[in-house]
Amino acid sequence: MAEYDYDVLVIGAGPGGYVAAIRAAQLGLKTACVESRETLGGTCLNVGCIPSKALLHGSELFEEAHDGTLAKFGVKTGKVEIDVATLQGEKATAVKELTGGIEYLFKKNKVEWLKGLGAFKDAHTVEVAGKSWTAKNVVIATGSSVTPLPGVAVDNDKGIIVDSTGALALAAVPKKLVVIGGGVIGLELGSVWRRLGADVTVVEFLDALLPGMDGDVRKEAAKIFKKQGMELKLGTKVTAAEVKGKKAILTLEPAAGGTAETLEADCVLVAIGRRPNVDGLNLEAIGLALNQRGQIETDHDFRTKVDGVWAIGDVIPGPMLAHKAEDEGIAVAENIAGQIGIVNHAVIPSVVYTTPEIAGVGLTEEAAKEAGFDIKVGKFPMMANSRAKTNREPDGFVKVIADAKTDRVLGTWVIASVAGTMIAQVAQAMEFGALSEDIAYTCHAHPTHSEAIKEAAMAVRGKPIHM
Ligand code: FAD
Ligand code: NAI
Repeated sequence: MAEYDYDVLVIGAGPGGYVAAIRAAQLGLKTACVESRETLGGTCLNVGCIPSKALLHGSELFEEAHDGTLAKFGVKTGKVEIDVATLQGEKATAVKELTGGIEYLFKKNKVEWLKGLGAFKDAHTVEVAGKSWTAKNVVIATGSSVTPLPGVAVDNDKGIIVDSTGALALAAVPKKLVVIGGGVIGLELGSVWRRLGADVTVVEFLDALLPGMDGDVRKEAAKIFKKQGMELKLGTKVTAAEVKGKKAILTLEPAAGGTAETLEADCVLVAIGRRPNVDGLNLEAIGLALNQRGQIETDHDFRTKVDGVWAIGDVIPGPMLAHKAEDEGIAVAENIAGQIGIVNHAVIPSVVYTTPEIAGVGLTEEAAKEAGFDIKVGKFPMMANSRAKTNREPDGFVKVIADAKTDRVLGTWVIASVAGTMIAQVAQAMEFGALSEDIAYTCHAHPTHSEAIKEAAMAVRGKPIHM
């Protein structure tokens, strides 16, 4: 008889956990995955990446038809209206297809789904729905959930003060939407409802949007969102929220303190960040402590301090991104199988799926300087890129940051309609240790938005052609 029920037991079936489970099974390990949700796929597929992108896509189509982008190109549409129920239905179909797809992949790869909440009894025993399962290796991939804001009580069912899950499920376009937090969720979901007709105000504690992104990008993003009609209240905090009938009344104050003001809204989205899911895991039973931010620390191989227990994804330090979790899922499974699984955390792209998209990989200019690099920067505006100009997408730029001594690319930041697609080539180049010269002398197809990356790389070393 085998010593353990499973070689690998993964807790959580988000992009980290389900990928780890599939990879482990592919490598011949007997694998189970514990998930308490009704469907697999975690935050990303159920209430994150996928539903948000469905609403972003639908609302972008609406805006193009309603606000004249299509008309500019001679596409006549007549009266354009939005049917939110149909839009939500299409979103639900995408979620159902994709979460069902993971269930299919589990069956195909012989990963067993243990339904329920997992809690440690000891380092090799996890209790799920009253039954104990043993495993040689346990991978914690429990993800994250919304950080609450004291004094602002979320009630997604009422739909007046909501978090991202509630904002993805609104049945009607709110007249006035206030978003607390000018980060990724606030700007993506704020954009969805603004495009559909809401009057949107973003309240951000810091003096700029999108913390962690390059300074130039943060400045330019604010200009673009303002131009699109979002009101930005930067350097401002919400200190209280009260629901009166069908309205929310917010109390705002300058971040540094000062005179309070009130703001009325039909809907308030709280999007001030996410925090790791560790409650209920009974980590005390295995003596696993958390760091100051409530995360589980691991080594480079995703091993925790407890033998046989590993952790990946949003529950460990690093950017809270699906592709980072997925890559860690593959790496942890390979490490458990005795192979060498590596994730290069210095090259993880991030993308904000607004219009235009905002993307980056590697160091910001500020971080590069702080790390002591002597840098050279090349910038190229999308207005001078022929494809963007032809498509009438003038906003944005590419900014390539290179080491002045070695010419090695340290980071690249892009604001462009297809920035999310464009950034992939830089991530690949950086993985190969590219110099800005390598990008500048790579032949790029014409006319493409990606030529702007080539031209920005040329600008690092001298002058681009089209500027
Ligand atoms: P999760 O996806 O959070 O999955 C963890 C799973 O574990 C959950 O299903 C949970 O139910 C389960 N679980 C937790 N505890 C237990 C337990 N004790 N027992 C059993 N099961 C348990 N990232 C991107 O890269 N691109 C995007 O476009 C993007 N859009 C987003 C939009 C929104 C609105 C949100 C909220 C997030 C978005 N993200 C996006 C972030 C992305 O969703 C996360 O980074 C990603 O899901 C993390 O994966 P994970 O596997 O670590 O955890
Ligand atoms: P975030 O960390 O991106 O932004 C939160 C913002 O709220 C910050 O700008 C912060 O300064 C601000 N803030 C904090 N406290 C505040 C307060 N009291 N009042 C006003 N502002 C306050 O977090 P967000 O947007 O909630 O997203 C969570 C995570 O989900 C992100 O870290 C991101 O990694 C992930 N995500 C990724 C997406 C993508 O890759 N496209 C899309 C959506 C989410």
